[in-house]
Amino acid sequence: MSCRILAGLTLILMFVRCQAKPEFAPTPTLPPSLGPTATLFPWISERGGQTFLKSRLGKCLFRSPLPVIYPATSGKLRELAEVNGVWVGTSVAANPLLRKNEYSTAVARDFNLIVPEVGLKFEIVHPEPDRYDFCQMDTILAFAEANGMRVRGHPLVWEQQLPPWVRELSLSQEQWKALLQDHVSRLVTRYRGEIEEWDVVNELFKEEGTLKETIWYENVGPEYIELALRWAHDADPNARLFINEFATENLNSKSNALYALAQDLLARGVPLHGIGFQMHLTESNPPNPAQVADNFRRFGELGLEVQITELDVRILKPVTPENLAHQAEIYQALMEVCLSAPNCDTFVMWGVSDRNSWINYVHEEWGSPLILDEAYAPKPAYWALVETLQP
Ligand code: G3I
Repeated sequence: MSCRILAGLTLILMFVRCQAKPEFAPTPTLPPSLGPTATLFPWISERGGQTFLKSRLGKCLFRSPLPVIYPATSGKLRELAEVNGVWVGTSVAANPLLRKNEYSTAVARDFNLIVPEVGLKFEIVHPEPDRYDFCQMDTILAFAEANGMRVRGHPLVWEQQLPPWVRELSLSQEQWKALLQDHVSRLVTRYRGEIEEWDVVNELFKEEGTLKETIWYENVGPEYIELALRWAHDADPNARLFINEFATENLNSKSNALYALAQDLLARGVPLHGIGFQMHLTESNPPNPAQVADNFRRFGELGLEVQITELDVRILKPVTPENLAHQAEIYQALMEVCLSAPNCDTFVMWGVSDRNSWINYVHEEWGSPLILDEAYAPKPAYWALVETLQP
């Protein structure tokens, strides 16, 4: 290649890099939906000091293919889940999936569904008014595709992990609506056909069953729930849309309120397809399996799917073999409830192994919440699930 051609190419590359902008560039003081959205070079993005080339649709294209682990390495749990037509899932972080390591191997070996643990949180995916960043979610999707896994979208609307710019906004109600609509629509539209189910609204009730006064409730109004479901449906009419809540597995004030809300939304033709039961549980106070079954049944009678979406069972330290055996019984009982409910086929745990759980930094006196231990080895709870899925 002649020097002249090389110099020309270098100049073009320098120009492209200088022009490279985040994906959307609306006027910073306005919510993104109120500003222009096109950029000159949407196919280049910078992340962690690396330049990612993006496809025409703006997806991240990685320099090397993501590791393909399954089916060459497959564990009993995933094998049996597939035999039974059950989805056994885990929440994941994006970065460790980029390479083959203990973490990515355990993810693909033992689970057939993944959920971004933080990759779609507002602060990550929409860090500035004029910038969306989909690289974490794209990594997770690419890994799922390479290893034959389903993906849940989580969450579209939540009050936590919001970036400071959202908390600092001073807008009219119409502008708040426009901001939330933009956020919901962009996420769902981008992954149309790839993410088939979404936690549209996450954690909306107080313990006694009234709606939380979240930033969205205060600024958009209580109708933010219905609006978010409608916007998500407009963006992907084939996606299944969920409300995801914690401490609603038993029959109690909160699950009664959730049931009443679901009934009301359905009666008014709002697109709602299922309820996610998070189930962040303690080994010392597990739910009542008969009540969980009744609860699942009543939502089923409304025509709704139910999913266990964030299961973990934390144990008060020091953890003993007896605690672990009891924890295994709790996991097993919940899998049995799900298997016997005609409207439940999805059983997701919140974290890959005890090494990765959020419990480690939020509830420090508690530990050992998951089915793989700190070395990614199966615990009694893992074998209890295997036993339950055995034909
Ligand atoms: O990665 C950054 C790190 O670079 C930085 O140094 C550090 C400083 O605080 O923060 C790290 O990010 C943290 C992230 O977890 C890492 O995984 C965030 O601060 C922290 O807020 C974030 O917490 C997550 C939390 O949701 C809030 O989004 C937890 O991992 C995640 O397990 C938790 O998940 C929620 C579900 O979405 C909804 N249900 C309850 C569940 C547990 O709280």
